[in-house]
Amino acid sequence: MNNSPIGIFDSGVGGLSVARSIRKLLPCESLLYYADSKHAPYGEKSQAFILARSRYITALLLARGAKAIVVACNTATVSTIETLRKEFAVPIIGVEPGVKPAIQLTKTGRIAVLATQYTADSDYLKQLVARHANGCEFVLQGCPGFVEQIENELINTPETEVLVRKYVEPLLVQGVDTFVMGCTHYTFLVPIIFRIAGESIQIIETQDAVAEQVGKRLMEGGLLGAGKGGLEVFSSSV
Ligand code: SIN
Repeated sequence: MNNSPIGIFDSGVGGLSVARSIRKLLPCESLLYYADSKHAPYGEKSQAFILARSRYITALLLARGAKAIVVACNTATVSTIETLRKEFAVPIIGVEPGVKPAIQLTKTGRIAVLATQYTADSDYLKQLVARHANGCEFVLQGCPGFVEQIENELINTPETEVLVRKYVEPLLVQGVDTFVMGCTHYTFLVPIIFRIAGESIQIIETQDAVAEQVGKRLMEGGLLGAGKGGLEVFSSSV
């Protein structure tokens, strides 16, 4: 048993959905969540910058006693996770778009991954899709502007609706029936996407799968906690 906290970070509030799933599955774990809101969106930054922030935050969380790190950000996962795993001697768990469940659910065989431009352009995502595509057609759709609307608390505004329509409607015209969220922030846009696309489409999110992976890694390492659990959030913007 190990009652040290699990460190979680994201460029802002998106990873809170991952933290919520971990709280639900592993209620005895204490979570330490770092929102790097001052530097959001990571999707518009260079790889060197994202790596520098990810290293800094990981070291900060470890200095506060973290026994494992969850990179609750797709952009940081695709650009830094291999390096973080080499440099830090604790379990490091990343997030990954749910490409495999999407293939099971699509009827048209056309699937869109909505992500930051950085993630959409990454070799990591292209290789993930190529490995599992199984004859399905994937559109890797960068969605510049989504993260800013969310971080600036502008989710339920006409501007956000217009922005979501701009990316989602052309995908519907192409026959896409399954949308994979490739950015943890986009969980806040799910109701808007359903409103635009209709309830018959499928939306795939992976925070519950990430929580299961965290539980598995802790169990394998003899690191599961048995405390009263909790969530402490801190941010670079305050
Ligand atoms: C961003 O900061 O650009 C988005 C984070 C993510 O990709 O999950």
